[in-house]
Formats: sequence, C-alpha cells, structure tokens
Amino acid sequence: MSFSIHTSRLLIRPVTKEDAQSMYRYRSDAEVNRFLPTEYHAVEDITDLIRRTASEINVPDTWFQLVLICKENGQLIGDVGLHFLASDGQHKQVEIGYTLAKNYHGKGYATEALRAILEHVFSTLQKHRVIASIDPENEASMRLLERLGFRKEAHFKESLFFRGRWADDVIYALLKSEWRSVEIPPK
Ligand SMILES: CC(C)(COP(=O)(O)OP(=O)(O)OC[C@H]1O[C@@H](n2cnc3c(N)ncnc32)[C@H](O)[C@@H]1OP(=O)(O)O)[C@@H](O)C(=O)NCCC(=O)NCCS
Repeated sequence: MSFSIHTSRLLIRPVTKEDAQSMYRYRSDAEVNRFLPTEYHAVEDITDLIRRTASEINVPDTWFQLVLICKENGQLIGDVGLHFLASDGQHKQVEIGYTLAKNYHGKGYATEALRAILEHVFSTLQKHRVIASIDPENEASMRLLERLGFRKEAHFKESLFFRGRWADDVIYALLKSEWRSVEIPPK
C-alpha cells in the first residue's frame, strides 16, 4: 500500500476489504448514519462500497475511499471519500465526504484529517476546487467545513428525495487560492 498520510494523531490510508467490519460498526449507527446517502443493513453493504472504490487515487469519475486510524489505539475511527469529478473537462475538481465514529466526535479528528487531505488535494494533486454537499440540518458538518475555510455557495430547496422526504441540499466550496495552511487552535 503506497499512499498514506500521517498527522499528529492519525494515520490516513486507503480502505481495504478487511476494513468492512470496522466501518460497518459506526456507519450502521443510526445517529452517525442520519445524513448519509445510504443506509447500511449488513456488513456486505460496506463490502460493496469498498468494492466500488477506485484502487488508485485521482481517477476521473470515481470515488477514492480513505480510512482514519487513531495512532493511540490502532482503531479505525472514520473514513473520508474523495470523488474525482470529470464534468469540468479539466479533471480539477473534487467532492469530499466524511464520517467519524460517534465516540470520536467533538475531539477535532475530522478537522485534523481533512486539513491533511485538503493539503494533499490542493498541493500535491493540484486541484482547483473542492465541494461538499450537506443537509442544512447537519450542523456539525457545516461547522467543520466553515472551520476549514469553505464558503456556502448554494442552498437548493427540496432538491433531493431522501428517506421518504424532499430534503434541502447546501453546497460548500473551497478554491485552491483560498486554501490556507494555518494551524487551527484547539479549543
Ligand atoms: C461531520 C462530522 C465528521 C463532524 O465531526 P466533529 O467531531 O464535529 O468534527 P471534529 O472531529 O473536527 O471535531 C470538532 C469539534 O471538536 C472540538 N475539538 C475538541 N478538540 C479539538 C481539537 N484538538 N481540534 C479541533 N477541534 C477540537 C471542536 O471545538 C469542535 O466542536 P464544535 O463543532 O462543537 O465546535 C461528524 O459529525 C460525523 O461523522 N457525522 C456523521 C456523518 C456525517 O453526517 N457526515 C457528513 C455527511 S455530509
């Protein structure tokens, strides 16, 4: 496995099929899953997600899935997906998605992971723009993006049919020119 990123508390590496059970444990938690596009009823659903993941980073029109390993205890505590968009014809834009196990919420792990991954996306992969699509009721997710410098660009009213209701969709974005590599002070 060639690709990995180290932060002070995390090892970030590509997902493997052996990660299915650990990912299922937190992704099947109703609270964690509340805003995720898919419900997971069995570990095989996660195995499918892993199978559909690109084996290499930065392939147009694919998702590349990373997992977050807590260095302190070796546990898989979350995941981050990168969708390499092909629609701009330049292959310069990425959509990002992320999920953290509930026990690890509120400790800055998602901020730490996304800062390192965004640095890779902008500085190494030289991408132009990163976007995220959020349910406006997902306040923790919006706080996370705003902490990282993302701007709210659009609010679509009832544009997604989600779990039996029409849900709003908020689009956040961050340009390479806006990306700042500054330390975010811990609270
Ligand atoms: C979205 C999600 C990853 C955000 O997780 P989070 O724990 O709020 O984010 P972080 O790990 O960066 O932690 C930040 C929080 O920890 C606090 N914190 C504690 N220690 C910290 C540190 N060392 N550094 C930064 N923040 C720290 C911050 O104050 C912040 O709290 P606040 O949001 O109340 O202000 C999480 O809510 C989640 O997994 N949700 C379910 C899946 C989901 O909805 N994903 C998004 C789909 S679009």
